[in-house]
Amino acid sequence: MHNWLSTQYLGHMAHKSTAFPPHLFDVDDLSTAQAETLLDLAGEYVKRNRQKDKKHPVLKGRTLINLFFESSTRTRASFELAGKRLGMDVINLSASVSSVNKGESLLDTIATLNAMQADAIVLRHPQASAPELVKGKVDGSLINAGDGCHAHPTQALLDAFTIRAKKGHIKGLTVAICGDILHSRVARSNTRLLGMLGAKIRWIAPPTLMPIDVTPYHPVETYYHVDDGLKDADIIMMLRLQKERMTAPSVASVRDYFARYGLTYERLAQAKADALILHPGPVNRGVEMTYELADDLERTAILEQVEAGVAVRQALLEMLLKDSS
Ligand code: NCD
Repeated sequence: MHNWLSTQYLGHMAHKSTAFPPHLFDVDDLSTAQAETLLDLAGEYVKRNRQKDKKHPVLKGRTLINLFFESSTRTRASFELAGKRLGMDVINLSASVSSVNKGESLLDTIATLNAMQADAIVLRHPQASAPELVKGKVDGSLINAGDGCHAHPTQALLDAFTIRAKKGHIKGLTVAICGDILHSRVARSNTRLLGMLGAKIRWIAPPTLMPIDVTPYHPVETYYHVDDGLKDADIIMMLRLQKERMTAPSVASVRDYFARYGLTYERLAQAKADALILHPGPVNRGVEMTYELADDLERTAILEQVEAGVAVRQALLEMLLKDSS
């Protein structure tokens, strides 16, 4: 199991300033007011991104480096587009084609990129607390794009944006997060952020995929039976089985998992009539949900989440970098 609750990380969580922070490691680096300001600014970027000319070069001449040690489609592409639409020079590096393959350490890789005068480094890494480990080597901003099972703050921000846009508010909504919560940085960051913004959070998972570490997060209700957990939910957030983080199979079989936890129209009927389905992607159809539901644009907001992802990352980069020297 990953040591996602290192004492170093708890030390970091204890710190919160009123100025916009230099780095974003998790959502609790932001105050509620800062998170809301960021979501408001993202709304402006959604409008701008729907125009023919999407450029708003407020960060012209600045440099963004995306350093990804794990696979990514949405997060990486949206950070790249966000940087480019803000006028930045953007470099993308994957571990598989970098000198990490030649034995270079994470710390040396970060120090190397920092020496190129990067204004922001976006890091995705399989190790929980990786950003905390390397922050001393970074002069600009360091943004966590997912560290092991621990945190994925920009995903939580884009999910909050999507919920707010579709429902008009977050406060008072019941959000049921369902699936492999144990290995999910998305579930952890969303629990913190949506909790902070006033939602009631439920976790639905098989016993083998339910964390026992509920306490560091916003209070959650836990459910082992999907029908109970979905009852009267406003938002249903489905999660992928993250096999790459499992040391041994955690479910009897994918077929059995789908039978017990997969979202179907029948199960959806337990939730509110207008319940909205979110999924951070990538979706494994026939595992987390039926093929039909994955294509149901009335009930799901999966592509709206993707659209929000670019805008939220533009807003974040602008807020982190605009006034920094
Ligand atoms: C998620 C991640 O990487 O944590 N994906 C994403 O960023 N959109 C969830 C997942 O991989 O299942």
